[in-house]
Amino acid sequence: MEFTPVCLLLSCLHVSPDSSQLFRYDSVSLSCSDRLNSTGWRVRRNTSDGGVRLCSSGWGVASSVSACTIRNAYPSDSGVYWCESREGERSNSVSITVTDHAVILESPVRPVIEGDAVTLRCQTQTTPSNLPADFYKDGFLIGTGSAGEMTIHSVSKSDEGLYKCQTHLGESPESWLAVQTKFLVLSPSPTPTPTPTSSPAPLLSLPRLMCHLVVGIPYLLTTIILGLIYRDKRKRAQSHAEQRGNNDVIMEIAI
Ligand SMILES: *[C@@H]1O[C@H](CO)[C@@H](O)[C@H](O)[C@H]1NC(C)=O
Ligand SMILES: *[C@@H]1O[C@H](CO)[C@@H](O)[C@H](O)[C@H]1NC(C)=O
Repeated sequence: MEFTPVCLLLSCLHVSPDSSQLFRYDSVSLSCSDRLNSTGWRVRRNTSDGGVRLCSSGWGVASSVSACTIRNAYPSDSGVYWCESREGERSNSVSITVTDHAVILESPVRPVIEGDAVTLRCQTQTTPSNLPADFYKDGFLIGTGSAGEMTIHSVSKSDEGLYKCQTHLGESPESWLAVQTKFLVLSPSPTPTPTPTSSPAPLLSLPRLMCHLVVGIPYLLTTIILGLIYRDKRKRAQSHAEQRGNNDVIMEIAI
């Protein structure tokens, strides 16, 4: 089980496996990360049958306050999932489709970051699960994968759209692939599998750096402002003292 570690929102919903589509009877884990350690985030969902309901209302098994597992997914579990605090703040939301189709498209639940690679997998419930597949975007054939996979090597905003795939066993439902601009990064992309030719990873990735900045800047500002206020107070106290000293001298002279 692998959850995407960094998220710049107060809370993010992590989904494992990272797939917008599931077969009937698949299981899926949902958990809320909590930037402020408040344990107040709960998994909620909105389905066409059940409306908006908390995990504790019975659609999943709560493994902790902020995590929920669906052991046997049904098509009625299809819907939008998110985390919500007691105060009503919402995390990112993800759309999950549970299908009776013989084929699903595995695409990431979260937006892909511009410039990153994304691999779409066409999975069948029968073995082998990686049959040759055609991939469609917004209804148009965009490629074929002999092993049921298609990789977009450098994603751009124009790759955003509704994707589905098809094997000789049938076609998958459609899922929306979102693309996020690099400078509005809310979460890192899934770590690509390292290849021998890949360059060494930078010590501090952009998302991580932004995370440090977002967390660090309020502290830094508070420290500076408190420092200035303190300095100002001391100065004023000093000049008061000096003034009083001068008055004493004047009074002495007067006496
Ligand atoms: C978060 O909460 C846990 C449990 O209450 C506590 O043990 C831990 O020290 C907290 N961490 C931070 C960074 O406050
Ligand atoms: C739940 O879904 C319905 C139908 O898609 C929509 O009209 C409604 O606004 C959603 N509610 C929330 C709280 O997202």
